[in-house]
Amino acid sequence: MSSNVVVAIDGPSGSGKSSTSRGVADRLGLRYLDTGAMFRAMTWWMLEHDVDVHDAAAVAAQAQKPDIVSGTDPLAPTITVDGTDVAEAIRGEDVTGSVSPVSAVPEVRERLLALQREVIGDGAIVVEGRDIGSVVWPQAEVKLYLTADPAARAMRRAAEEGGSDLAATEQSLLARDRIDSGRAAAPLVMADGAHHIDTTPYTLEEVINQVVALVSAARGDA
Ligand code: DC
Repeated sequence: MSSNVVVAIDGPSGSGKSSTSRGVADRLGLRYLDTGAMFRAMTWWMLEHDVDVHDAAAVAAQAQKPDIVSGTDPLAPTITVDGTDVAEAIRGEDVTGSVSPVSAVPEVRERLLALQREVIGDGAIVVEGRDIGSVVWPQAEVKLYLTADPAARAMRRAAEEGGSDLAATEQSLLARDRIDSGRAAAPLVMADGAHHIDTTPYTLEEVINQVVALVSAARGDA
């Protein structure tokens, strides 16, 4: 049995990825990496430095500059850019509205891919994102692909963000899905060998239980 397991959890936003990933990591004593936060941190830096996020060449030219550091405690994940704590700022509307075009730039993906692999290192980690099982760590022992009905996703996201306009939240989620799934570089896809869980009918606890069971089975636990 290996304690260096890597659990890759991919899926669109609002599918329950973050809560599930953190819950599984906490239960199993694993580290946790939110790769979406890294793309958001990169986007925050671009906005902060007045880079036009719709100009792929301009974004590419700056992609090596931000120093992004992710803390991997599932109960208190942290993220800094050039030493500044951006955990809250990266959840704001400005960043959310600009993260998809920035994430589509190959130079951004290459830079963050290297950082992500560095953090994963010897494993013992749950990693959430869009391309973890397909590109970042295809050798992950357990791969999950989480989805949920758009209405359920909008409800969860609005609750997280304290917003109340469900229709607008759903439209914004679907718009990001289209860009994330349609881009040429590492689009959101279900990885080979991934287990698909539609989380719509389940509570968070139930989804965590299902994933923990899959990890235990993969590790050969009794
Ligand atoms: O999971 P999230 O909503 O915080 O992710 C923000 C954006 O980052 C998402 O719209 C697409 C991008 N992303 C990505 O392209 N690849 C990843 N592995 C994770 C996120």
